[in-house]
Amino acid sequence: MAQATATVAAPTDGKAETNPLRAGLDTDRITEPCSVVFFGASGDLFKRMLLPAMYNLRLTDIMPNDFAIVGYSRTEYTDEAFRDYCKQSVDQFSRSGPAKDPLWSDFSQRLSYISGEFDDVSDYDQLKAKLASNDEKFGTKGNVLYYLSTPPQVFPLIVEHLAKAGLDPKSNTKGWTRIIVEKPFGTDLKSAQGLQTEVEKVFDESQVYRIDHYLGKEPVQDIMALRFANMIFEPIWDRRYIDSVQITAAETLGVELRGGYYDNAGALRDMIQNHVMNLLALVAMEPPVNSDADSIRNEKFKVLSAIRPIADDQVFEQAARGQYGSGTVDGKMVPAYRQEKDVDLNSNTETFAAVKLHIDNWRWAGVPIYLRSGKRLARKNSEIAVRFKPIPHRLFGEKSDTIDPNFLVMKIQPDEGVTLRFNAKVPGPKNHIRGVNMDFNYGTGFGVESAPAYERLIADAVRGDATLFTRWDAVQRAWEIVMPILSTWQNTKGTFPNYPSGSQGPEESDNLVAADGQAWRRI
Ligand code: BG6
Repeated sequence: MAQATATVAAPTDGKAETNPLRAGLDTDRITEPCSVVFFGASGDLFKRMLLPAMYNLRLTDIMPNDFAIVGYSRTEYTDEAFRDYCKQSVDQFSRSGPAKDPLWSDFSQRLSYISGEFDDVSDYDQLKAKLASNDEKFGTKGNVLYYLSTPPQVFPLIVEHLAKAGLDPKSNTKGWTRIIVEKPFGTDLKSAQGLQTEVEKVFDESQVYRIDHYLGKEPVQDIMALRFANMIFEPIWDRRYIDSVQITAAETLGVELRGGYYDNAGALRDMIQNHVMNLLALVAMEPPVNSDADSIRNEKFKVLSAIRPIADDQVFEQAARGQYGSGTVDGKMVPAYRQEKDVDLNSNTETFAAVKLHIDNWRWAGVPIYLRSGKRLARKNSEIAVRFKPIPHRLFGEKSDTIDPNFLVMKIQPDEGVTLRFNAKVPGPKNHIRGVNMDFNYGTGFGVESAPAYERLIADAVRGDATLFTRWDAVQRAWEIVMPILSTWQNTKGTFPNYPSGSQGPEESDNLVAADGQAWRRI
């Protein structure tokens, strides 16, 4: 296959960024002084992602020196033991390598820990005292960001107790108070609404940052730039030229050690309702009138509102599910889902979900949007592939040539970039036509490594920029869209396992698109 490579123009001021970590981030937008309180600090997410993100924000000067971090969890740690635990986390998981002095010794002094229950006001009183002392010692100016990275069942408890202890925004007369809520925001429509009722008793919507880490990924942020910073795509971005859209979030990993959570969740809740739905909104929304958070989020909400509801008796025509059996992934034998730790031996939980949606508006009428996500598939691959309509009249090519449709593929991971597939004449005396790819790759194109999503998102929350966070109306709408599928699947036993690990997914998923004369791109 012929390849063409896009390159990136040098910065116009001629100054190249020399710190490769700093180059990926927006140094103009330094964060504000604050204390960040991590509920669930003894958990895996904090250790692997959140603390390394904080450390690298400091390392790159995105976060200035007037900050403090408080870990809050049930596990017992002294401040010293917590600092050791944090050091291990940086040593093991930071993209900048092991913790370095003198930065680490300064950073670690700003770390403290409260071993507390989530429903005991006296533990929150300790937190209050700690925040006051952080203000004095580190100049955090009364600003507080709470990060809920606990099991979701305790989200309402934490919010309620923050208010009881006078740690809510209304009681904070010195600075701002904000809250980041990890996913899942609810486990279905009703529980999400219940959680929202509790959250809004204490926090105003502008103070709530519902995290979806996909929105922090560079290539996801680039979707809007691709669409709205170029002249050539938007005029053909509609039903007249686009045949269909495929959004894929495929993983090779299984459930790892999260069987307890995942067996009550499944692929539809875990990936489609949030990450994949956000990708859909970005690719299908109308151009926002402005680049501020609400203008963008208004458009995202509008497009989700235009998605045609799936009738209960249409679920099996509009959606397909799967559960992995044993198989080979990356050359290694792996067990079936039902053999994984903390998973029911007869589990009816799907580890793969595919959904066909229609957007009932002028731009998208008649264009099917296919979504799929699954674990233990052949390859890790997340992408959005826009397939264009066939040419109206064939002029070139030998009889045996097939003229492929054009594709524009936004590659999210592991490759980060954009591929445009078009047809070209094969060199030689014959008039052969073949599909070729023009590739843009972030790494080689810009010569920088993308910052992990959590760095961008935490920094944005500290700056008060909610653009990359999901507003309540969109979360609620996404639940409404998936609810008929969720209930039907819950009430019908699947024939599982129905795809081997390391494969392209279940046959049911192929049939879903084949019914429209389509085929999935290979994962
Ligand atoms: C999380 C899901 O939100 O996203 C996990 O709970 C999934 O099950 C993960 O593995 C995928 O994230 P990424 O960034 O690896 O695509």
